[in-house]
Amino acid sequence: MTFRHKHILGTEQLSRDDIELILDTADSFKEINAREIKKVPTLRGKTIINLFYEASTRTRTSFEIAGKRLSADTVNITASSSSVVKGETLEDTAKNIEAMKPDIIVMRHAASGAPHYLAERLDCSVINAGDGAHEHPSQALLDLLTIREKKGRLEGLTVAIVGDITHSRVARSNLYAMKKMGMTVRLVGPGTMMPPGIERLGAEVYTDMREALRDADVVMMLRIQLERQGKTMLPTLREYARFYGLNLENLKLAKPDAIVLHPGPMNRGVEISSYVADGAQSVILDQVENGVAIRMALLYLVAGGESKEA
Ligand code: CP
Repeated sequence: MTFRHKHILGTEQLSRDDIELILDTADSFKEINAREIKKVPTLRGKTIINLFYEASTRTRTSFEIAGKRLSADTVNITASSSSVVKGETLEDTAKNIEAMKPDIIVMRHAASGAPHYLAERLDCSVINAGDGAHEHPSQALLDLLTIREKKGRLEGLTVAIVGDITHSRVARSNLYAMKKMGMTVRLVGPGTMMPPGIERLGAEVYTDMREALRDADVVMMLRIQLERQGKTMLPTLREYARFYGLNLENLKLAKPDAIVLHPGPMNRGVEISSYVADGAQSVILDQVENGVAIRMALLYLVAGGESKEA
């Protein structure tokens, strides 16, 4: 099957076949990551620029490692050390970077739609590494790879996604992707953190975490994003932890073999207890490992696909 996308802007634009191709390609790249010499010449001669306007540990590092393992030349630009601090606009920055002839720009930005804005204006491919509260497609894809690996399938599984749904680009990208893969998606959080009308995207909406956890195959905890929300949405962190924190006790409501995911960074003791985060059901570090393979697959498919469309 041919991958027809020039850009990866969100899982909303990906079909079930696209997602399966990405997951299968990532699976094949996992073998390279287990080798002693973790490098293949696949993207030799390609230039990838990681343009990050927001902080990142996992996404930026794994896109850089992914590019290097495929032999691309990778360059990192962070807003704080670039001419953005001198007032340069996003479009000017991007046009100047494009003049240096990169093949792919991987971009994280606080504004929803920023990667789409660039994709319309630049000739090179753009991969969204997180745009505001909109989408984080590579995170959702690495989550799916991890779930498929641990459960052997995606179709028919029930996942409970818990936390600040309104501000979560991870929840939105997962919802689009999981519905396409035939999963039941339960979203749970305080009413103040639940976007109105999200049911229209196929989600089941809960405010009671215990109900949402019941017999779930997968539990995905979200980080409380204090940087994106007004403080009024959350009375106290202690109260939030009491009603929406995952601990060994309420995890028992899910299936006995349920797995626990978290995109990171975690607020230990708030949305997840350390006993769960470091416990036998946690696959959080498997997610990070799979992040490299997924990003290798995305770079490879975007750089190598024939007959591309956005
Ligand atoms: N999950 C995630 O996006 O982590 P980073 O912010 O560290 O990239």
